[in-house]
Amino acid sequence: MPHLIERTTQAARQRLSSVLLAPAPQPVDDAWRRFSRRGRPTDLAQPPAGSNLLPVRGDYGAPLVGHLLDYIRFGTDFACDRYERYGPVQWMGAFGTRLVTVAGPEATQLVLTNKDKTFSQGGWTFLIDQFFHRGLMLLDFDEHKMHRRIMQHAFTRDRLAGYTQQVVPRVRTTVPTWSTTRPVRLYWLLKRLTLDIATQVFMGGRGSNADSEQINQAFVATVRAASSLVRSPLPGTRYRAGVRGRRTLEHYFAQHLPSARASDGDDLFSALCQATTPEGEQFSDADVINHMIFLMMAAHDTATITTTAAAYYLATHPEWQDRARQESLALGDEPPDIDALEQLDTLDRIIKEALRLLAPVPLVMRKTVTDTAVLGHYLPADTLVAVAPAVNHFVPECWSQPDTFDPDRFAAPRREDHTHRFAWIPFGGGVHKCIGMHFGTLEVKAILHEMLRTHHWSVPPGYHARWDNTSLPVPADGLPVHLHNR
Ligand code: HEM
Repeated sequence: MPHLIERTTQAARQRLSSVLLAPAPQPVDDAWRRFSRRGRPTDLAQPPAGSNLLPVRGDYGAPLVGHLLDYIRFGTDFACDRYERYGPVQWMGAFGTRLVTVAGPEATQLVLTNKDKTFSQGGWTFLIDQFFHRGLMLLDFDEHKMHRRIMQHAFTRDRLAGYTQQVVPRVRTTVPTWSTTRPVRLYWLLKRLTLDIATQVFMGGRGSNADSEQINQAFVATVRAASSLVRSPLPGTRYRAGVRGRRTLEHYFAQHLPSARASDGDDLFSALCQATTPEGEQFSDADVINHMIFLMMAAHDTATITTTAAAYYLATHPEWQDRARQESLALGDEPPDIDALEQLDTLDRIIKEALRLLAPVPLVMRKTVTDTAVLGHYLPADTLVAVAPAVNHFVPECWSQPDTFDPDRFAAPRREDHTHRFAWIPFGGGVHKCIGMHFGTLEVKAILHEMLRTHHWSVPPGYHARWDNTSLPVPADGLPVHLHNR
């Protein structure tokens, strides 16, 4: 039977708040409401006279920081609350500026499909260009199209089959070694494993263990810097650590570039070096380095978070863990290839449901290129826009009992994800839709499949994960899990 998870319900918020704000002098739920309601709603900008457009309503939040701390504390709960209060298009203060948030299937479809090319990736550039300069996600329009066409050659089915063959042995040698004698922090084990996988699949094993430790730290620094409140590299700030991390990564990839260029190996680094369109377009050395840095980040954290979330829901829903285990055991002992992993339908639905309940990329950034409108609301040129896919995952028009963990909602004939093209969008939508969607899903499946084959796992009774949204959502306590050998 499906169980309730902690999300927007009153009771859930009290639970969540009591963990977050423990010794608060007044009821914590009131504290949350007062904080997030700070400020009188005002208009973002006046629509042109005679245009029939409506202004975007919203409020700044706390001085300087705006609502960023609300978001960091409450993540998707906060975004859902704003959606309920202001509707699909609203503004709030963040990063010292005004940010329009777009949520709900209709509004997100308009922005992400971007028919009139009025939304650029400038929102991402604003946030992360220092750290992920000229990554594919930061490129726009014709240039993006050309780079994506080249990169697509590194993500063909043959390439994915090759990557899977490298992922599986690494997973098989690691997962069975995890400790069963004391609780483990699963998020950190998974982060280590996905980094090892990335070193293998992305780098073709180039670089030593010491390198990979240094690279791990550099990635953490760059990713954390993206949501830094301070937006300049002042001493001691996360922003500065991120800039340093970027330099470390550039140096690392530049050092290994000649060997990747010379190789026809089946790692992603070599694949990017070799990728050529039928028209003969290829990446320059600088392109390869910029894309590798972005790809490592894009793949590493998202896959870790997805696996962590799915493992968490399997721990809190043992009946689903048993069901998925039966399916995995039925596959036999052979290391699974891409076809075998694709047969794991139950696991597929579990991963989809985990991605719905915890979207690893809860905000997708854009910027208006010209004056435009979303659902009749006026947005002037140069407005920062945050699309909130995570909100779509809870709208009752698309999802029955949205707070419930229920993977069968993705099975025919229910297919609740088909209620709207933009009901389920953990991988985004439109021309920037995640290029690593299939690879990421295969990697997550390979890890969970091995965990199911080798272990049972559980969390302490009554345990509820608290997600830290300082950058992408991660369990604040690393997710304490007890593993038992099967
Ligand atoms: C497994 C979980 C993953 C999730 C939830 C995820 C999510 C996303 C989302 C939401 C976007 C859209 C950003 C936008 O519209 O601005 C995106 C783009 C992207 N992702 Fe992923 N991602 C995942 C895994 C991966 C992996 C494994 C790779 C690479 C191997 C990857 C590479 C990329 C790239 C290159 C883009 C930019 C695409 C473009 O701009 O054309 N992602 N991802």
